[in-house]
This record gives sequence, C-alpha cells and structure tokens, in this order.
Amino acid sequence: RLAQLNGLTTGQLRLGAVTTAKYLVPRLLGPFCRQYPQVEVQLNIANRSDVIRCLEDNRDDLYVFSQPPDHLDLECVALAENPLVVIAPAGHRLSGQRIRWEQLAQEPFLSREPGSGTRLAIEDHFTRHGWPYKPHMTIASNEAIKESVAAGLGIAILSRHTLIHTAVGNLVELDVEDFPIANQWYLVRWRRKALSPAAQAFSSFAEMQAPLAAPAPPQ
Ligand code: PGA
Repeated sequence: RLAQLNGLTTGQLRLGAVTTAKYLVPRLLGPFCRQYPQVEVQLNIANRSDVIRCLEDNRDDLYVFSQPPDHLDLECVALAENPLVVIAPAGHRLSGQRIRWEQLAQEPFLSREPGSGTRLAIEDHFTRHGWPYKPHMTIASNEAIKESVAAGLGIAILSRHTLIHTAVGNLVELDVEDFPIANQWYLVRWRRKALSPAAQAFSSFAEMQAPLAAPAPPQ
C-alpha cells in the first residue's frame, strides 16, 4: 500500500546542488526515483555562490551544500561527511608517508575558483593554521583539477567524493597532518517554505538514508 502511495506522488522536484555534490546526489536520486517513478526531477548544479543566489531567488525546492549560508533562515539536515583531502599525481615523492603541509609548500597548488565552497573551506582551514594561501593556478572544475594533477601540473585539495571513479594509478591521496579538512553535506531548505509533495517526499527519503557513507581513501 505504501509503494502504491509512493507511486502516486507526482509533480516536480527541483534540486539545486553545489558542483561537488554531484557525486553524492545521484546516490539518493537512484533509489528515490525507483520508489517515486512519477516525480520529475530537475537537478541544477553550480558552484556555492551561484547556488546561494538560486536559494535567495527561491528557484529550487531543496538544496545540497556543504557550507550552507549562515545569514538566512534555513533548515539544514546532515547527509554525509565530506572530507577534503590532498591529492597528488601517482608516484609522488611524498606519497606513502605522513607529512606536514609545510613540506608541500613548494609544490604548485591548483585551486577551485572564488565562489567555490571547496575553496572557502580550504581558505578557512589555512587561515586557522596561519598558512599563506597562494594557489598557482585557478581551475573552475573538480574534474579539470583532477586531470591537471594527474598530468603533473601540481597538487590540490578536493572532496574525497570526487575521487570515487578515478582510475587506479592516476592520483594518490597524500597523508598530510591536519588533513582531511572535516566537512559535512547538508540538505537545505527555507524554514518557512511549504514543500510540494514531491519535494516533501525527497526530503523525508534523504533524511531516512542519512548518514550516507563517505568514500574510503583510494588504494
Ligand atoms: P563547490 O561547493 O562545488 O562550490 O566547491 C562544494 C562545497 O560547498 O563544499
């Protein structure tokens, strides 16, 4: 009977997610869409500052952020851990040992663009530790950063979620003191906004699945 009711929920679900959450959200949408086949999903992906604009303009029903803006009246439900890790090309001279960030200070550092939540979390972490933040190159895509690191252009700090489908032997996660940077994914909505039945169904579904497992470090 429940399945029947689930099957009857119709309408649109508009989800806004920061770029890095595209590795997480499909893991929720897969089982959700099987359970609610009549719900039409629209998934919008952009960096954190653009998704905040969508939130302020009330364009989507629900959002996925790792750092929800704190100046708005929001309800945030934790979904999963989002550790930010240091990656280097496979075979990097410092792989396989515990190192300090200072040992990497001479490496060219590839960074996401201003407006990225990943970048913001890294900047906060560096400020807390009194480390200078001097990216060598700014690249506005997690995937392009991974390719650039694999091609030997430098090192980077990315969500471990971005590494799940990386070919073995391409990249390594370095074991650096004070890393990973601890972060969380949240499902976010306006506290006072009534949700459509489809959005309500997704919100309850996601809460029931939480916490989703965070990926293990690559081998
Ligand atoms: P980003 O967001 O894709 O904008 O870096 C990730 C996050 O908010 O942590």
